[in-house]
Amino acid sequence: MVKAMALLLFPSMLSLLVFPLIVHNGVVHCFGEKKLLKLQQFQWKQKWDASSCLSQKSRKEKGATILEMKHRDYCYGGGAEDWNKLLQKRLILDDLRVQSLQARIKNKASGKTEGVSDTRIPLTSGVELGTLNYIVTVELGGRKMTVIVDTGSDLTWVQCQPCKSCYNQKEPLFNPSASPSYQTVSCKSSTCQSLAFATGNTGICGNNPPTCNYIVSYGDGSYTRGELAHDHLSLGKTPVDNFVFGCGRNNKGLFGGASGLMGLGRSSISLVSQTSEIFGGFFSYCLPSTQAGASGSLVLGGNSSVYKTSSAISYTRMIPNPQLSTFYFLNLTGVSVGGVTLPDSTFGKGSMLIDSGTVITRLPPSIYKALKAEFMKQFSGFPSAPAFSILDTCFNLSSYQEVDVPTIKMQFEGNAEMNVDVTGVFYFVKTDASQVCLALASLSFEDEIGIIANYQQRNQRVIYDTKKTKLGFAQETCSFT
Ligand SMILES: *[C@@H]1O[C@H](CO)[C@@H](O)[C@H](O)[C@H]1NC(C)=O
Ligand SMILES: *[C@@H]1O[C@H](CO)[C@@H](O)[C@H](O)[C@H]1NC(C)=O
Ligand SMILES: *[C@@H]1O[C@H](CO)[C@@H](O)[C@H](O)[C@H]1NC(C)=O
Repeated sequence: MVKAMALLLFPSMLSLLVFPLIVHNGVVHCFGEKKLLKLQQFQWKQKWDASSCLSQKSRKEKGATILEMKHRDYCYGGGAEDWNKLLQKRLILDDLRVQSLQARIKNKASGKTEGVSDTRIPLTSGVELGTLNYIVTVELGGRKMTVIVDTGSDLTWVQCQPCKSCYNQKEPLFNPSASPSYQTVSCKSSTCQSLAFATGNTGICGNNPPTCNYIVSYGDGSYTRGELAHDHLSLGKTPVDNFVFGCGRNNKGLFGGASGLMGLGRSSISLVSQTSEIFGGFFSYCLPSTQAGASGSLVLGGNSSVYKTSSAISYTRMIPNPQLSTFYFLNLTGVSVGGVTLPDSTFGKGSMLIDSGTVITRLPPSIYKALKAEFMKQFSGFPSAPAFSILDTCFNLSSYQEVDVPTIKMQFEGNAEMNVDVTGVFYFVKTDASQVCLALASLSFEDEIGIIANYQQRNQRVIYDTKKTKLGFAQETCSFT
């Protein structure tokens, strides 16, 4: 075994290696399972094409509504300098998102909710939007709206006219008075009451008319506030009448020019719940990487026959959590690195949250420590680089054209498996590959909630069957067409 590891020092020789089999916990593994990563692909060459961020496509196929999904970076690119800044800022914001999620989880678990106050922005809810990266286009009140997709929150909202304070967006603001089907939600309705559950903040009554005023606030001070309303929504060609959303008249944050947000959480106000009669609470996505032209899809309804998966779908149970029922939880039972299963007694003890909005997967310290040690063992001989923000395992790969990267697999209850795509193993802090880091991070404490984040979900079909309360994974090279 020691000899095999020494050979791994020379990645170019790897393809010539015959992998020795080792036995671990009674299971035979192929030691040193690796995948080739071409480093130049990550050197951002794409053109800045702002028009490609608007009007994402859609189609209907075999009873499913399929929305094209793009990574926001693809539309709002810039030069290498800007890229470096963006990539670095994203990690810092990602940490804020996770801190605010953890705070929200703690507050919810202890039954706290807060009312809307003009003088105080509560820190109990929502997520850090600066890190939310995937966009789709829908039609609301007859107008095209390109919105950010988030499974970690519930309320769908758009910036709304007249606006007290709006950030810059690429499309015209939503104008309620131009939509004959627009109607405000009364503050006495049960819909308004359900806000506290969905956003952590109870709705408050506006006067004359008694509108239901909402606020969703974010860990870094970003927020949206406005009134709850309903209007006609079209998802591709699929109509949804009386769709409840937030008409945001006071919004602040790093929403990157998008017109608003689509909430795919589990509460009654989320898009998934509101469309459950049409789509059966069944949706899935394939999150594309940031490479030029990469597009993915958000599929609503239908069945698995529309997916272009290259492996069988494996399902795991959604773990119920009555206090935190807006989030999707699953049970992580194991992790393997390069085919070697990590020995860790903490697997299966707590549940993990799966989130499309967090970038970097967070693991309990004991699991992260074991993973890092095994990864370093198998990916050795490369010059190291300084740690950056939450990422502590970094390399200078600027003199390599390509490297062989140990595979990372996550196992979930019921023998479900998620194979992390090779593009999801390393985060490029610098686009010239001089600071490339293992794209996983440790939680601060063993009892915090782990998060399966979007970087590790790339090129993967992730299926949410909320009726059967199960989640599925299969490999897929994302593409809308
Ligand atoms: C999927 O849906 C299509 C069209 O609605 C149907 O013909 C097909 O039998 C379904 N396939 C499965 C596996 O359920
Ligand atoms: C996770 O799965 C393991 C193995 O099936 C089981 O022992 C454990 O109780 C489960 N954990 C949770 C939180 O359900
Ligand atoms: C990375 O490695 C290259 C080639 O070995 C070297 O020239 C460069 O200075 C290194 N960069 C950093 C930031 O360490």
